[in-house]
Amino acid sequence: MNPTLYDKIGGREVVQKASHHLYTNILNDELLQPFFKDIDVQTQERKMNAFLTYIFGGNSLYTGKTMRRAHAQAVAAGLTDSHFDAMMQCVKKSLQTLELEQQLIDEVAGVIEKHRPNILNR
Ligand code: HEM
Repeated sequence: MNPTLYDKIGGREVVQKASHHLYTNILNDELLQPFFKDIDVQTQERKMNAFLTYIFGGNSLYTGKTMRRAHAQAVAAGLTDSHFDAMMQCVKKSLQTLELEQQLIDEVAGVIEKHRPNILNR
C-alpha cells in the first residue's frame, strides 16, 4: 500500500508540531489575529491537529465540526479569500520551520486548498 501524506510528512510528531507553529504564525499575523481574539489557542491547536491528521490520511475518523459550520461565524464577520490566502502562507511557513521538502509542502497545500469553498461557505 502506498504511504499516506500523513506518513510521508512524518506522522503524528510533525503534524502536532505543525499545528502548534501554525497558531504561533496566525497570532503574529495582523490580518488573521482578530478572528482568534476570543479563541482558546490550545483547544484550537488540538482541533486543527485532528482535522489535518484526518485530511492527510492519518486517521479515518474525524469528530470535529464540518469546515462550513466551523467557519460560519467567521464568514459572517468578513472571512474572505485574502484571509484564506494568509492562512495558507502560515501553513507553509510552519512546514518550512519543520524543514519539510518543498514538494511535500506543495502536496499539503493542495490537500488543504480543496477545503477553501467550504471554509468560505461558497
Ligand atoms: C487553512 C485553512 C483552514 C483550516 C484547515 C481550518 C481549520 C479549522 C478547524 C479544524 C477548526 C475547528 C473545528 C471544530 O471546532 O471542530 C477551525 C475553527 C476556526 N477557524 Fe479555521 N481553518 C482554516 C482557515 C481559517 C481562516 C482563514 C480563519 C480566519 C482568519 C479561520 C478561523 C477559524 C475560527 C475563528 C475558528 C473557531 C470556530 C469556533 O470555535 O467557533 N479558519 N478551523
